[in-house]
Amino acid sequence: MDEALRALGDRLSAGHSLSLEEYGELIRRRDPEAAAYFGDLAVRWRKAVYGTAVFTRGLIEISNICKNDCLYCGIRRSNASCRRYRLTEAEILSCADEGYALGFRTVVLQGGEDPYFTDPVLCGIVGEIKRRHPDCAVTLSMGERSRESYGRLRDAGADRYLLRHETANPVHYGKLHPPEMSWDHRMRCLRDLRDLGYQVGCGFMVGSPYQTEEDLALELKFVEDFRPDMCGIGPFLPHRDTPFRDAAAGTLELTCYLLSLIRLIHPAVLLPATTALGTVHPLGREKGIQAGANVVMPNLSPVSVRKQYELYDNKICTGEESAQCRGCLDRRMRSIGYALTTDRGDPRPVNVKIRIKSAG
Ligand code: 5AD
Ligand code: FES
Repeated sequence: MDEALRALGDRLSAGHSLSLEEYGELIRRRDPEAAAYFGDLAVRWRKAVYGTAVFTRGLIEISNICKNDCLYCGIRRSNASCRRYRLTEAEILSCADEGYALGFRTVVLQGGEDPYFTDPVLCGIVGEIKRRHPDCAVTLSMGERSRESYGRLRDAGADRYLLRHETANPVHYGKLHPPEMSWDHRMRCLRDLRDLGYQVGCGFMVGSPYQTEEDLALELKFVEDFRPDMCGIGPFLPHRDTPFRDAAAGTLELTCYLLSLIRLIHPAVLLPATTALGTVHPLGREKGIQAGANVVMPNLSPVSVRKQYELYDNKICTGEESAQCRGCLDRRMRSIGYALTTDRGDPRPVNVKIRIKSAG
């Protein structure tokens, strides 16, 4: 393989920082051999830090009502064809109870920016889940809110917050979002969340419209600088009722390549093999784990609403057969030599003494 690329990967794996130009080289000059080499290094790191256990988070999609109008998203407010729903507090709690009984020790409440979920409403739900299941982590993925709001939710017991930054390039952000949304505000939210003591997840789409190789280099530098606890990345997939309906989807290959590099940049990061990755390829989540991911997020939402939480076309896990995504993913993970665990799945501090054997 390209010796210069190999040397860059080895430097990352040894814990060195790379320049933006060097990350650009890793993106531009990638080839299947480099992907295999970095994938192998990434899996060694993932096994050194987390073994072969795969963390699980039970995902509850609590509302598809959203006041935002992100151009890529199927539940954007201007999509009049979207059938809207909102789970009741009782439904959310019953999903959480069911998840607990199935062995989940993290529930993720995810939804559009639905004004119904004011601080008192959401704090009540978070507090009740924590009261019923004190050993369960609660993750929120409810979009941009004020620092005060994040503070109240944290006080109510929320442990983690997922807020994808979507792109590390503010100009690119402007092409994916309506003018009233701002990259600076998104970044401020991420900083506020971290200050408040949340475990913070950022993330971006791979192959989103207008994304360049330079943008991807910026993503890698951003992960290096921000060092998120979690990083959610998945391929962009078009949705038929959005302005990007005819845009090309992101690929499995590039997503897996980036998963491997992110694992090398930040060996302890929690990295999900996402539903979008499972949608772009039938074995996408398995391939994500084999590229260095260590988290899966089975769907715990009531089957009756899953089809409506449609951020992109052809989303998996929406049929009757998927009532037990946990069992399905457990079989899938076992088929590649991994296994789901009921651990809460907190990020491990990387022991600097961990060394992995060189792949070469
Ligand atoms: N394709 C892939 N991912 C998408 N998301 C939203 N719309 C799409 C799409 N069309 C992702 C965004 C968001 C997360 C909840 O889902 O990154 O932050
Ligand atoms: Fe949902 Fe397989 S994980 S159906």
